Amino acid sequence: MTDITIIGTGNMARGLATRAIAAGKSVQLLAHEDKAKAETLATELGGQVSTGVVGDELTSNLVIPAVYFDAAKDIVARYGDSLAGKVYVDITNPVDFSTFDGLAVPAHSSAAEELQKATAATVVKAFNTTFAATLGEGAVAGQALDVLIAADDEAATQAVVNFVTAAGLNAIVVGPQRRARQLEQTGFLHILLSANDQLPAFQWNSALAVVPAA
Ligand SMILES: NC(=O)c1ccc[n+]([C@@H]2O[C@H](COP(=O)([O-])OP(=O)(O)OC[C@H]3O[C@@H](n4cnc5c(N)ncnc54)[C@H](OP(=O)(O)O)[C@@H]3O)[C@@H](O)[C@H]2O)c1
Repeated sequence: MTDITIIGTGNMARGLATRAIAAGKSVQLLAHEDKAKAETLATELGGQVSTGVVGDELTSNLVIPAVYFDAAKDIVARYGDSLAGKVYVDITNPVDFSTFDGLAVPAHSSAAEELQKATAATVVKAFNTTFAATLGEGAVAGQALDVLIAADDEAATQAVVNFVTAAGLNAIVVGPQRRARQLEQTGFLHILLSANDQLPAFQWNSALAVVPAA
């Protein structure tokens, strides 16, 4: 068994794997189709990383598909019942890229809730509000990243909180899984800041922080 399975070899996979290795976790890294991509990233990362491709048996109970929403639906369908009993961390921002004016999920739902309808895994929303570029360091302007988490199941929530904390980040459980609706809109807002030429201070390396009074 490994501690964490990360699916994908892109920006978020790199960031999340970096934090997992910093936390001393063993990682199963599954590339989309080309195992060489996982091997190359594993070599760059160091640490305890085993590699493979989507379709390989999952060796962790904590699974983080670092892919876009459509690919996440494919992964859930492909792994089917083998996801039962596992914690599935949904990091997606399901932006409607055809309009760049909203999210491509039904009204009164979220990517997390749509994935939950399709899987026997327990879906936890997390990491959609943290930019990939900030996960390498785990901090922006000297402040550990806030990782906003929405989930229904207590044990699954705790598993993600434990990972986030071990990774040196600040876990904030915002509420039940349906709060993913607000997290996904918040993630989209954060994206819009960096996509806005009028706001040159935002360059895909900012962090959203919720600062308590004391
Ligand atoms: N980038 C950020 O700062 C950020 C922040 C928060 C949340 N997110 C969310 O994180 C997710 C990943 O974003 P990213 O920036 O890391 O994207 P990315 O760099 O484009 O990486 C996407 C990964 O998904 C893989 N993939 C594509 N189709 C797949 C499939 N059908 N099955 C399995 N794997 C597949 C790709 O593999 P191949 O290239 O080999 O096809 C690639 O490794 C998105 O949902 C995004 O909304 C991103």
